[in-house]
Amino acid sequence: HAASYNTLTGEAPIVVAHRGASGYLPEETLGSYELAIKLGADYIEPDVQMTSDGHLVAMHDTTLNRTTDAAEMFAPRNGGYRVKDFTLAEIKQLTVKPTGALSGDKSPHQDFVPSMGDPYKVPTLDEVLTYLKDYNTANGTSVGIYPEAKSPFDSVKEQKIIDSLKSHGFTTAADKVILQSFAYESVVNLTSLLETNGMEAEVAQLGSVRLQDGVYGVSGSDGFNSLEKLAEVATGVGVSYGGITEAFIKAAHDLGLKVHAYTFRPLSEEEAFAMIQPMLDWGLDGFFTDYTDFGRTVVDAQ
Ligand code: G3P
Ligand code: CA
Repeated sequence: HAASYNTLTGEAPIVVAHRGASGYLPEETLGSYELAIKLGADYIEPDVQMTSDGHLVAMHDTTLNRTTDAAEMFAPRNGGYRVKDFTLAEIKQLTVKPTGALSGDKSPHQDFVPSMGDPYKVPTLDEVLTYLKDYNTANGTSVGIYPEAKSPFDSVKEQKIIDSLKSHGFTTAADKVILQSFAYESVVNLTSLLETNGMEAEVAQLGSVRLQDGVYGVSGSDGFNSLEKLAEVATGVGVSYGGITEAFIKAAHDLGLKVHAYTFRPLSEEEAFAMIQPMLDWGLDGFFTDYTDFGRTVVDAQ
């Protein structure tokens, strides 16, 4: 690859394993994170939900049904299967199903054997952090983690994410933590919690690219914020890739903000090059993808 990149820091753009190797294996499980690391992820991504008894689990949706066998295991509760209505002990009985476009028979990674027992259970954030720390220690690697404080937004959950990172020793820049949220309010809270706890991590505001009254910004779950305003509380933005332009990346970089794109779902290497490479030329600092290997190949070819 080239000696330098057009990223903010000049370092290689990061490949974030979106929900693990979720194109191939059940999303947000230890098995999926393990495959993602083996395929060259720089960061693994868990979304964080909270159970009825206050435990943090890696799960994207606010409900259990899309990704697990909850409907076969339990009767609906309060009219549905919301994570916040079930205990951790109940959620631990579930099995996560593969949902990716190249899962099962279609997967090129069918020979992958996860190293842990029960690789497709819903892990707690603590279990993901333990797995990652142990993996990095055993292999001399420094794979990072990019946890999302998912809706429903809740300062108790945000505090617990910080506590969990702290108790597992993810406290310095070398531990490579990036926190993310669609809610500006959560971004502000997470940044302030990091400061209070003397921890170093990056924080990204998620949302869609918007140009409002001639000013670039990001539209999140609680409205539009200009890049200038975001630069006061965040280190970067994570935006839907369809809205990204070279001018947006330049505007962000001029304010010291990194730009990460979500979510690339190419179904081949060829598609991955077509989708991702132009944005890397513009200076994109990293991206979320369900297909870690395709993303890795594109970055390594830069
Ligand atoms: O966190 C970046 C990207 O994951 C946002 O979309 O819905 O997959 O969490 P979502
Ligand atoms: Ca996410």
